[in-house]
Amino acid sequence: MDKFSFGLWTVGWQGRDPFGDATRPVLDAPLAVRKLAELGAWGVTLHDDDLIPFGSDAAERDRRLGEFRAALDETGLVVPMVTTNLFTHPVFKDGGFTSNDRGVRRFALRKVLRNLELAASLGAETVVLWGGREGSEVDAGKDVRAALDRYREALDLIAQHSIDQGYGLRFALEPKPNEPRGDILLPTIGHALAFISTLQHHELVGVNPEVGHEQMAGLNFVHGIAQALWQGKLFHIDLNGQKGPRYDQDLVFGHGDLLSAFFLVDLLEGGGYEGPRHFDYKPLRTEDLEGVWVSAAANMRTYRLLRERATAFRHDPEVQEALRVSGVAQLSMPTLSRGESIVDFLAGADVDPEVAGARGYGFVRLSQLALEHLLGAR
Ligand code: GCO
Ligand code: MN
Ligand code: MN
Repeated sequence: MDKFSFGLWTVGWQGRDPFGDATRPVLDAPLAVRKLAELGAWGVTLHDDDLIPFGSDAAERDRRLGEFRAALDETGLVVPMVTTNLFTHPVFKDGGFTSNDRGVRRFALRKVLRNLELAASLGAETVVLWGGREGSEVDAGKDVRAALDRYREALDLIAQHSIDQGYGLRFALEPKPNEPRGDILLPTIGHALAFISTLQHHELVGVNPEVGHEQMAGLNFVHGIAQALWQGKLFHIDLNGQKGPRYDQDLVFGHGDLLSAFFLVDLLEGGGYEGPRHFDYKPLRTEDLEGVWVSAAANMRTYRLLRERATAFRHDPEVQEALRVSGVAQLSMPTLSRGESIVDFLAGADVDPEVAGARGYGFVRLSQLALEHLLGAR
């Protein structure tokens, strides 16, 4: 079965934006679970507050959790990932782990630490940390080096608590360049990977990159994912669509840069990532509830179609020939020969730069072949 998962907050998004009110009613979590299962999803994910509204008392919490668990049992849907909302309540307006206010930092850290128990009890393997409010608008107002110290302190404590309690969780940082803060800390996959290498329990921490977030920064998502895989750090992924560097659109997967989506699926399906294919999108504000389910199904259908197209691309003899001409496989050969010393290497003969400089790489042909497969023209 395909490991397709959806956040409760995705299909449950009511369409409230900075300029307009909600266009859809509240969607109860058990209904979302049943509907997603009916559409063929495998998993559902959530923020603590998606399921248990901020400030709920114990009775309310138990009731909501009970109804949610009943829907999971009935449908067989799993909860592979849980995350913590550190961005909606005004208390987090200057951040959670990196708020200038120490009391807020302690509040945020407790909220996340307490949420680990919920994550473990629901059977989640991964906890995502999206620091949407960790950042600033005013450079003078945030000591970034101190903020990174506090970010690291929080991550070290969270990982330690999971170890101490035997929760067995892994953690995935989700980069984003901006929105809702003017500038968010750990803005790209690269920043997050560098930060992770400084953590005490770095082996338990990876990334949860989102298509649109890297594209908001003008970056190549496929390259970012390839590097995360190369470093063994792709713990989770948020699939969606985005049309270039502008506000975070959270479109249906494939409804943005389609060629990039094609190569992303090609990469993910090519091995090395066994985790959930998680859709973090927002059904357009123009849609009614029926349109929400149409959009949820569209994510999964698009992924499957792209996988089919990518497989056809890889199996096409003409593509294989074009790849050979481009020398793609040759890059896997180490630059020095086995046993070749640097001294021997330096004494050796160079390739004729005029000849090597004159060759063609045939990348356009490859690109066109990919496009034709994507269009179903081959
Ligand atoms: C966004 C983010 C969020 C986070 C989610 C997990 O679109 O800005 O992707 O949707 O993924 O809140 O904390
Ligand atoms: Mn987003
Ligand atoms: Mn996301």
